[in-house]
Amino acid sequence: MHTSLDPELHLHPETLMLGHGYRPEWSEGAIKPPLFQSSTFVFQSAAAGKAFFEVAYGHRAQAPGEAVGLIYSRLNNPNVEILEERVRVWDRAERAAAFESGMAAISTTLLTHLRPGDVVLHSEPLYGGTDHLIRKVLPMFGIEGVGFDVDADAARILQVADRIGRHRVAMVYVETPANPTNALCDIAACATASRELSTRRRVPVVVDNTYLGPLWQRPLDHGADIVLYSATKYLGGHSDVIAGIALGAADLIDPVRVMRTFYGSVAGPWTAWLLLRSLETLKVRMDAQAVGAGVVADFLRDHAKVAAVSYLGHLRPGDGDHDLYQRQCLGPGAMMSLWLHADEPGAFRFLDALRTFRLAVSLGSTESLAQHPATMTHCDVPADERRRLRVTDGLVRLSIGVEHPDDLVSDLARALDEV
Ligand SMILES: Cc1ncc(COP(=O)(O)O)c(C=O)c1O
Repeated sequence: MHTSLDPELHLHPETLMLGHGYRPEWSEGAIKPPLFQSSTFVFQSAAAGKAFFEVAYGHRAQAPGEAVGLIYSRLNNPNVEILEERVRVWDRAERAAAFESGMAAISTTLLTHLRPGDVVLHSEPLYGGTDHLIRKVLPMFGIEGVGFDVDADAARILQVADRIGRHRVAMVYVETPANPTNALCDIAACATASRELSTRRRVPVVVDNTYLGPLWQRPLDHGADIVLYSATKYLGGHSDVIAGIALGAADLIDPVRVMRTFYGSVAGPWTAWLLLRSLETLKVRMDAQAVGAGVVADFLRDHAKVAAVSYLGHLRPGDGDHDLYQRQCLGPGAMMSLWLHADEPGAFRFLDALRTFRLAVSLGSTESLAQHPATMTHCDVPADERRRLRVTDGLVRLSIGVEHPDDLVSDLARALDEV
């Protein structure tokens, strides 16, 4: 959490995105940080090198006021350090760690905080890559994943924990909203359950905030311990970089940073540089995307070829997720799913007719994207499970970019004629 050690941090986050964590006098007055494409760094003395390693390898805590020196770019690098200082601002996190992909952030965090015999309780459904990691990879290391419904309250999460033995639960892992249905998971309820489960050891609540963060949802404010991002999405925002971020208190993120050194999953300097460029426009991009999404969602809701639209901005009092949305989210985001009055051929005709929307997976970028979850992002999910999650052949997922909303609506109107 921010303290008086951070005198600059009273400014608005969007202001801090322009320069926080970097001073031009460090680099010949360059207004932007140069790219430090250096693999290794020269120590001023052997004693300084020794001290840097002691801290970097977690052999001792950093002394008050002690600068952590640069060693080698698998451990630390100026571009990565500037990024980590800046990216923690939106979520008001004490510490950040940057990775070469969202999956690197997720796998390094889970393999830091889980041990053989442990169970990770997780909301369902999860992003396909995370689902594969938990269901197929972690069991090779003696770690089991057990799912709970995305709408579970604390009591139901604890019931699941009782079934497998509370003492085995080492983490509660959450993805909210769920992809591709936009169903919400109650982070505060997960935090309540985790407190009950933290009798012998702390059971952290870890939230993948890729879909709404960092503008429209701040999990740390609702009791989460660690926030994860595929920075490939909104944080990067231009479909030109793959990256990941983990955020939280120092006692949870510092061990992740040490493990990152040995898995070698750290972000490279060019990745960090691109993200710093992207963070400057994060708020204006996300604000514009949210406005466009509202226009598009309203158009789709009233269209005869569309059976239903799932968009958080359409939640009304009395709808299942409405109260949770009011409590947990700061905006409806720019993701939506629509169920066409169509099967797979009709959905494909619609997708193939789109021109302004690009037919591609991923989300959160400046250009609008459309994809078919049943045959693309969720093709690995068993058919009966897809049915349960309403991932039908007529479902299309949209990510809204920064184009003029009228152009997006015209594109959709034309493509819907083909359904
Ligand atoms: C919600 C979510 N989490 C994590 C990831 C993985 O991120 P990356 O592709 O950057 O490894 C994705 C990718 O689509 C995602 O959508």
